[in-house]
Amino acid sequence: MVSDMTLIKKIWRWFWSPSKKWALGALLLAGFVVGGITVFASHKTLEWTNSEGFCTSCHTMQFNQTEYTGTVHDVSKTGVRATCSQCHVPEQGLNLMIRKAQAANDVYQHFIGKTIDTKEKLEERRGLLAMREWTRMKKSDSAGCRSCHTEMNMDLSNQNLRARTGHTLAKNENKTCIDCHKGIAHELPANWVELEKQLNLNFSKK
Ligand code: HEC
Ligand code: HEC
Ligand code: HEC
Ligand code: HEC
Repeated sequence: MVSDMTLIKKIWRWFWSPSKKWALGALLLAGFVVGGITVFASHKTLEWTNSEGFCTSCHTMQFNQTEYTGTVHDVSKTGVRATCSQCHVPEQGLNLMIRKAQAANDVYQHFIGKTIDTKEKLEERRGLLAMREWTRMKKSDSAGCRSCHTEMNMDLSNQNLRARTGHTLAKNENKTCIDCHKGIAHELPANWVELEKQLNLNFSKK
């Protein structure tokens, strides 16, 4: 039977046993340190890339920012303010990673110049971009919206007749927020009615 002490010694020796140039343990240790830094750094990167300043550094003030300024989601009665990423970036896990990869494509598009850097270009692409966003929101059951508008906050008895009717219909017909609440933070694309038909068609096929 191996005593505790010899076992510890064995592990200790194994830990520092050389592998080619470096002790195995030293390599493991280095791995942990580098891994730790990477996790910390990517967490910070995610945090930074979720800030409004980051988004509006490309989505320049005069476009999306001014459209959004003054809407209820910018200045609400309660002082709660929705930032870009609260609506646009699903909060965690795989979805977050997928969204970040898509965002990397946006960044790429920005730098190769096929962009939305003028009002004209934005209007030209708005339909396409809105369709992407609507599709994402339909797929996620409007996850961004629901992070603030929880079941509890959506108490029907506190709502006016129109909202109550709408939200009863929403339950019965299995509709999600974005089905009825398009264009709440931005101007709608000029041809949004046709786009909406197309969107619903795409989804009814599945
Ligand atoms: C480096 C520039 C840049 C940054 C930073 C940036 N975007 Fe974009 N974004 C773009 C460009 C360019 C497009 C248009 C892509 C195209 O034309 O296909 C775009 C498109 C979009 C779209 C339209 C839907 C889609 O999938 O293309 C949304 C929504 C969006 N961005 C939200 C955001 C949010 C939210 C942030 C901050 C978390 C952000 N963007 C940060 C450049 C950027
Ligand atoms: C960061 C939290 C937050 C997020 C995310 C959010 N909302 Fe809101 N929403 C609010 C607040 C706060 C109000 C204003 C309530 C008030 O002042 O009475 C509001 C108001 C509204 C209203 C009432 C509009 C009006 O003109 O009175 C609608 C509709 C709405 N939100 C839909 C949505 C939808 C759809 C989404 C997702 C695309 C969404 N919200 C995302 C917090 C949020
Ligand atoms: C079937 C359509 C439909 C769906 C789906 C829907 N709504 Fe509504 N919603 C309405 C209508 C209609 C109103 C009333 C609008 C008005 O009075 O101008 C409304 C009003 C609201 C209001 C304002 C409530 C108030 O008291 O004035 C909020 C906030 C809101 N919706 C959020 C949401 C959120 C969040 C979702 C998803 C969980 C959602 N809605 C899904 C139709 C819908
Ligand atoms: C309250 C939720 C909400 C907030 C806050 C919000 N957006 Fe959006 N955004 C949407 C929705 C919903 C769409 C899909 C098109 C529509 O319905 O207007 C959209 C569409 C877009 C598009 C595609 C082009 C277009 O106009 O349709 C871009 C780009 C975009 N958002 C960027 C931003 C940026 C940048 C911010 C922050 C300054 C922001 N959004 C804040 C909900 C939001």
